[in-house]
Amino acid sequence: MSEKIEVMIPEEELMNRIGELAKEIDRDYQGKEIYMICILKGSVFFACELAKKLATPVILDFMQVSSYGDGTTTSGSVKIIKDLDSSIKDKDVLIIEDILDSGRTLCRLISILSVSNPASLKVCTLLDKPARREFPVDVDYNGFEIEDEFVVGFGLDYAQKYRNLPYIGIVRFEE
Ligand code: IMP
Ligand code: MG
Repeated sequence: MSEKIEVMIPEEELMNRIGELAKEIDRDYQGKEIYMICILKGSVFFACELAKKLATPVILDFMQVSSYGDGTTTSGSVKIIKDLDSSIKDKDVLIIEDILDSGRTLCRLISILSVSNPASLKVCTLLDKPARREFPVDVDYNGFEIEDEFVVGFGLDYAQKYRNLPYIGIVRFEE
């Protein structure tokens, strides 16, 4: 079976929307410094583009997590593969995620980070697939709501491929 990629959101549309998000975030964080947590690997492209467009000072940090359900409860869990470099106590934390799907990853991450008492904790996602939600997550900033399609590009992968595409594409599988 081979895959074909169909453009869903072209590069220019992504850039324009990220610019709008940056303006909104700048308005909300006046006089503050953003402690930006980029969730590896998928959010790297989005976090870089957003950070470049922000006028608010940004401290950039990274986390890598893997999420898995335990099969018996609906809570699921996430394993931290790379933790933050510094403490987020009293910081204005903004989590950057590529895509919100079931919500498992963000739901668990928010409860883990809340324990460290940040001054504020907000979430910014590039894409949201609301039809897939199993775990409630309050998203503060979202780029695009999309249908339930498997997408790649701009950081998102299929079997670690296609992250470097400059647009968001739908994967079509062919015999
Ligand atoms: P959640 O924990 O189910 O919300 O899953 C979020 C993670 O699943 C994202 O950070 C992505 O790594 C991955 N994911 C979900 N949907 C897609 C998709 O359509 N394409 C690529 N990765 C996806
Ligand atoms: Mg991810």
